[in-house]
Amino acid sequence: MMKTNRNKYAILALIVAVTYGSIAAITPTSEQPKERNLKVLPKDISHDSLDHLMDYYKAALNVKCSYCHAHSEKNPKKMDMGSDANPIKDVTRKMILMTNEMNDKYIHSITHPSSDSTALQIVTCNTCHRGKAKPDAPAVGTR
Ligand code: HEC
Ligand code: HEC
Repeated sequence: MMKTNRNKYAILALIVAVTYGSIAAITPTSEQPKERNLKVLPKDISHDSLDHLMDYYKAALNVKCSYCHAHSEKNPKKMDMGSDANPIKDVTRKMILMTNEMNDKYIHSITHPSSDSTALQIVTCNTCHRGKAKPDAPAVGTR
């Protein structure tokens, strides 16, 4: 889990890398990559980077892996991470694309008027979710 600052920066670097499609900060896998059902994340993402990212999603939404992933059809006691049977997985793919686009198209294009442009400010899942699967809807009349 993300207890130390070092881990916090590692996960931010990972999100940035995924966001900008630059795989430099994502440890490429040394073994022959396993055939994965990845439609939005980099296909050659390492096991460790994928693990960290999944842990991050879990924490950002305060859910279990099974919130997004389906149980195996053959053995319902096990999870089948590659399966797309749980519709929340596709919602999440849209969320990843949306977050990437917000950063690429808008946040990344901001030129800071001050010289302090080194701060790592990006939109992440947590910008909106903050530990909830569904972000709080604003109260009626405050939109
Ligand atoms: C908020 C939703 C969400 C949560 C929570 C989540 N995942 Fe995922 N996971 C996804 C999505 C979406 C993909 C597919 C990404 C893509 O298509 O590029 C994925 C892909 C994976 C894969 C790759 C599967 C393959 O095709 O080989 C593994 C392994 C995985 N997740 C493990 C986990 C584990 C373990 C946890 C719990 C610690 C977890 N995930 C929590 C959404 C989630
Ligand atoms: C700009 C705000 C924003 C960002 C950033 C964002 N989300 Fe969401 N997310 C929402 C809103 C709003 C909903 C509720 C949509 C609805 O169903 O009405 C939602 C819904 C979801 C759901 C479905 C929850 C449910 O039970 O129906 C998942 C899963 C999810 N987001 C995952 C993610 C992940 C993972 C990320 C980061 C890659 C992310 N979101 C980034 C705003 C955001």
